[in-house]
Amino acid sequence: MKILGIESSCDETACGIVDCGINVRASTIASQIDVHEKFGGVVPEIASRQHLQVIDTIVTQALIDAGISLGDLDAIAVTQGPGLIGALLVGISYAKGLAAGLNLPLIQVDHVHAHIHGALLDREAIDYPSLAMVVSGGHTNLYRMEGPLSFKLLARSIDDACGECFDKVAKVLGLRYPGGPLIEKLAAESTARIEVPMPRMMEDRSRLVFSYSGLKTHMINLLRKHGEGWIQEYLPEICAAFQSEALGQLVRKLAIATSVHQDAKTLLIAGGVSANQEFRRMLEANVQIPVIFPGRKYCSDNGAMIASMAYHLWQNMPDPQFWDWRRDWDAYSRYQFA
Ligand code: KG4
Ligand code: ZN
Repeated sequence: MKILGIESSCDETACGIVDCGINVRASTIASQIDVHEKFGGVVPEIASRQHLQVIDTIVTQALIDAGISLGDLDAIAVTQGPGLIGALLVGISYAKGLAAGLNLPLIQVDHVHAHIHGALLDREAIDYPSLAMVVSGGHTNLYRMEGPLSFKLLARSIDDACGECFDKVAKVLGLRYPGGPLIEKLAAESTARIEVPMPRMMEDRSRLVFSYSGLKTHMINLLRKHGEGWIQEYLPEICAAFQSEALGQLVRKLAIATSVHQDAKTLLIAGGVSANQEFRRMLEANVQIPVIFPGRKYCSDNGAMIASMAYHLWQNMPDPQFWDWRRDWDAYSRYQFA
């Protein structure tokens, strides 16, 4: 069962081809980072135009990489949201056209949930219940899963997302977009020459909730107070201290979650921030259950995760007509995630 998945919600145009929800045959990605970098963040209108320019080439390349033709596909999947509306429209319109032309079902996929399936690509199926965390530029969401399509939201950020905080702090530090990988690289160069004062965010609450705007404001005030010279002199130490607290909050809350949900068999971590190696080390040292991270190429946005989640939706569809886009494009919203 081969599904072709298209992702265009933000600044990556991606196409994945996945067999039976797990075996990745192709994952082709065109990143727009170079285009947006000079603006310090993603410019929605430019993103839409870039998607339009490359989407056909990316899909064609994915088919070549997988060594198959359009006639070998069983279904088309596409990110239906959340994301930049113009960017989503490009992927959805392209996918609709492809599905209509090939007379194949079109499966709409939630981008945030799909990230979790990115952690399950190219590996053995896992047992449930499981805890699953998406830490990306737009989301800091913790779920309890009873199965591959059951997403019970346990906690989320009440303000900024964790990756967003990395990006905004990086901007104040004069670093390029996206800030996460650069902060991680600089933090690794720290020799702890100074102690950078850092608050412990959300420490007093045993409640499962995340918050990043306080840490962001603390960093902005701290950097303003000390000035440009200090930032340049101690950039690695500043990055290490910030990173330690930004990730520390995740680790503390995940340790609480695993102790509350003792029946959880695994902890899945997904989204762009899951690429951070220090995060992986901290988490493995602090939680008692097996932690599963995505392969490096499936941490950030990709089409394979979309195709993978679509496979499970396909398997669980209550009615074969359900996914017929010509009949009822909005049917997806009626699908209840337990
Ligand atoms: O999942 P993703 O590619 O896109 C969204 O759906 O948002 O995540 C992008 C986010 C950005 O905020 C980026 O700075 C962050 O993930 N990120 C990292 C690392 N690599 C990417 N944050 C910390 N450490 C990293 N190594
Ligand atoms: Zn994403």
